[in-house]
Amino acid sequence: MASFPTLMFRIAVVFLFLFHTISTAVNRIDPSESISDGTTLVSKEGTFELGFFTPGNSTNRYVGIWYKNIPVQRVVWVANRCNPINDSSGLLTISNTGNLVLLSQNKSVVWSTNSSKQAQKPIVELLDSGNLVLRDGEDRNRETYLWQSFDYPSDTMLPNFKFGWDLRTALNRRLSAWNSWDDPCPGDFTVGFEFDPQLHTFPEAYFRKGSAKFYRTGPWNGMRFSGSPEIRENPLYSFEFVYNDDEVYYTYNLKNRSVISIIVMNQTTSLRERIIYIEADQTWKLYSSVPRDDCDKYGVCGANANCIINNNPICQCLRGFKPKSQEKWNLMDWSEGCVRNNPLNCTKKNEDGFIKFSELKVPDTTHSWVNKSMNLEECRAKCLSNCSCTAYTNSDIRGRGSGCAIWFGDLMDIRTCSDGGQDLFIRMSHLELEKGKAGKKKRAVIMVAIIGCFSGMVLLGYCICRRVSKESNFQAIRIIMFDKTDRIQTISQDGDQDEDLELPLFNLSSIIAATENFSMDNKLGEGGFGPVYRGKLEKGQEIAVKRLSISSAQGVKELKNEVKLIAKLQHRNLVKLLGCCLQEEEKLLVYEYMPNKSLDSFIFDQKQGKGLEWSKRFYIICGIAGGLQYLHQDSRLRVIHRDLKASNVLLDNEMNPKISDFGLARSFRGNQTEEKTSRIIGTYGYMAPEYAIHGLFSVKSDVFSFGILVLEIVSGKKSTGFHLQNHGLTLIGHAWKLHKEGKSIDMLDKHLREAEHNVKQVLRCIHVGLLCVQQSPVDRPNISSVVVMLGSDSELPQPKLPPGYFLETDSDKGDLPFTELASSSKNDMSISLFLAR
Ligand SMILES: *[C@@H]1O[C@H](CO)[C@@H](O)[C@H](O)[C@H]1NC(C)=O
Ligand SMILES: *[C@@H]1O[C@H](CO)[C@@H](O)[C@H](O)[C@H]1NC(C)=O
Ligand SMILES: *[C@@H]1O[C@H](CO)[C@@H](O)[C@H](O)[C@H]1NC(C)=O
Ligand SMILES: *[C@@H]1O[C@H](CO)[C@@H](O)[C@H](O)[C@H]1NC(C)=O
Repeated sequence: MASFPTLMFRIAVVFLFLFHTISTAVNRIDPSESISDGTTLVSKEGTFELGFFTPGNSTNRYVGIWYKNIPVQRVVWVANRCNPINDSSGLLTISNTGNLVLLSQNKSVVWSTNSSKQAQKPIVELLDSGNLVLRDGEDRNRETYLWQSFDYPSDTMLPNFKFGWDLRTALNRRLSAWNSWDDPCPGDFTVGFEFDPQLHTFPEAYFRKGSAKFYRTGPWNGMRFSGSPEIRENPLYSFEFVYNDDEVYYTYNLKNRSVISIIVMNQTTSLRERIIYIEADQTWKLYSSVPRDDCDKYGVCGANANCIINNNPICQCLRGFKPKSQEKWNLMDWSEGCVRNNPLNCTKKNEDGFIKFSELKVPDTTHSWVNKSMNLEECRAKCLSNCSCTAYTNSDIRGRGSGCAIWFGDLMDIRTCSDGGQDLFIRMSHLELEKGKAGKKKRAVIMVAIIGCFSGMVLLGYCICRRVSKESNFQAIRIIMFDKTDRIQTISQDGDQDEDLELPLFNLSSIIAATENFSMDNKLGEGGFGPVYRGKLEKGQEIAVKRLSISSAQGVKELKNEVKLIAKLQHRNLVKLLGCCLQEEEKLLVYEYMPNKSLDSFIFDQKQGKGLEWSKRFYIICGIAGGLQYLHQDSRLRVIHRDLKASNVLLDNEMNPKISDFGLARSFRGNQTEEKTSRIIGTYGYMAPEYAIHGLFSVKSDVFSFGILVLEIVSGKKSTGFHLQNHGLTLIGHAWKLHKEGKSIDMLDKHLREAEHNVKQVLRCIHVGLLCVQQSPVDRPNISSVVVMLGSDSELPQPKLPPGYFLETDSDKGDLPFTELASSSKNDMSISLFLAR
């Protein structure tokens, strides 16, 4: 036991030590202190640092703020953006007017804050949020700081930062990219909220290059910016949009400080990028970026047109409109946009009406008006009452919708967003509406026939099902009919909410004709739940028809799943569902036809494999990753495929890969990322260990299957049965062994040996493949990281040993499909066996 005086002495030493460390890392200055080049301010908890720095290849000195503990310096704010100091004489101090000033050698002011109020006791402090504030004494209210760097951002948005307006002081916090890597002076690339508070226009953020708009986020619709599906619930950050009489801003906050996420305007790429920093990786990584695609380009289709990314060409006049110049339109020059077939007739009352369009990013809000307390009915009346009003909708789409937004004049920059769009009611002349009605009457007749047929079927089905089983089959029977907006709606009989399927309904007789009564000659193969046939519709369009085997009750459930899911999912790397037919006993899904069949027919085939040179294989790998990324992250639902494999990747005539067969997919809403299932569905050789053994599936089990697929594409070898010729090593084991020996290139399909290939790319793919098949799901990258890794030259982490399924014993093959290395010890590679069931 230490005596009392010794103890006191120790405490005193500890205090002295603490005091010492605090005093060397200063987080604030008063008028008697200053910061010279070489010294810094450090925020209280050591998160941020302020000091002098030199960007890129420049020799100039600037004052900036950066994360203190991140080794790669990333400056998040710059004071003297356009007024550098060319030597190390800079001095940051508080002037006698109470402003923070930056002085150069001859004591001239290079940069200064602009507080109009003079503080009694001015203090400048760097906060742990990254905000540099000028305050009076101990006033710590964000609202009454005399000046704060968060009000004058550079190119970076930090957590907790308010991006947007303070209407009380008319302060607009915009971001502007650096001129170049060497020059923090604002470039021509800026973004900020633009609106007219007097006219109550609907606020939204515009990206500009110089003065030209080149992207807009869409206005906030209660859940996200209309047409910005990348804004959604996620594990990294929460977000909020505030719109009231005092303020209009977007802000976000980190959910877990161990993953930092910031938003940066990048002059080089012309993108607004969200990048994240994970401590373990020690690098910044791209998380998401906008604009995303051609349809995001501002006004690409001109006025009154709709951009649909999966269409060819992408631009279409809205219904009721025609190209202003048909000739130019035919040449894919859409700049003049579209004009009405029939002009509006505003003078005669109540002659105009509206057509509802769905899943849109709403038009440019420059000429708009918003009112948060009106309902949709009042909104419609408001629009009708003003001759220049051309469209209206709810300003908040949450729940049943509320508020009113209306547009005046031409409707600019509309696109279809199947994963996050909303309804828009566009004004039409009565002539246009009557045309629609005439068409509708015809459809109504058909509809009655269909309903008749279906209700008969429901009754019949009901009786049969009652006898066979009380629940299983009956669930899948739905009446399908057209709703007011000409879309197909299903009314489910099992108590689900009504869902828009957005799917054309095919007539059984047309499918029978197209497939020559499902002739054997037209059979393409046997899919998950029944055979697949090739067919040709009357108009010449080729289709693939999946005919669900009626006997399988399980299959009906899967079909329902599949129809619901695929209808909502559209991406260039996913097979498109064209429609369905649920007539008589037939349950058919109609897909676009893929002339080049599936990937396995190429990579595992000697002759075909030769034709598939490396560049194409790489293209296919990236495409599959893109499709999977959409399923996991970009679509409105979170979808886990659960049966990704070479035979489920189809190729169109340009060898674009398309993921098919979502019968096994599960969708998740919100944060649910992992589920346990008692029914393991999947394919031997592609299943992640935790799924095969414990029934645990997650996005990471898909990543595992993707990794296997990559190794197969590179090597041209099937993962199943590989061990038979290779001394018990699985394909993964083989890849790992070669990787460790630095001979990964030997993995490459021998058909490609002589052909030209990009060695670096091949090695990168194998490396990424190995990262994806790591034993522990936590260690596997998510698919977004995979996409980034494939597309960049950044250094890759080493895969952890052991990978899933290293060795395989073929003696036990029947009941024991998997053997894996379970030890995580690096030196001692003990082998233990896990039984699959
Ligand atoms: C101080 O130096 C700057 C350049 O560093 C120059 O522009 C300015 O005129 C000088 N002022 C005085 C008072 O010499
Ligand atoms: C934050 O993340 C770290 C590492 O991923 C984890 O250990 C920690 O539990 C997380 N904290 C919270 C509050 O979620
Ligand atoms: C902009 O993008 C380029 C290319 O991806 C990257 O090298 C650069 O670091 C980015 N700049 C900023 C400011 O993030
Ligand atoms: C219609 O709305 C426009 C735009 O807000 C406005 O300028 C005009 O005065 C309105 N016309 C009528 C008749 O209210």
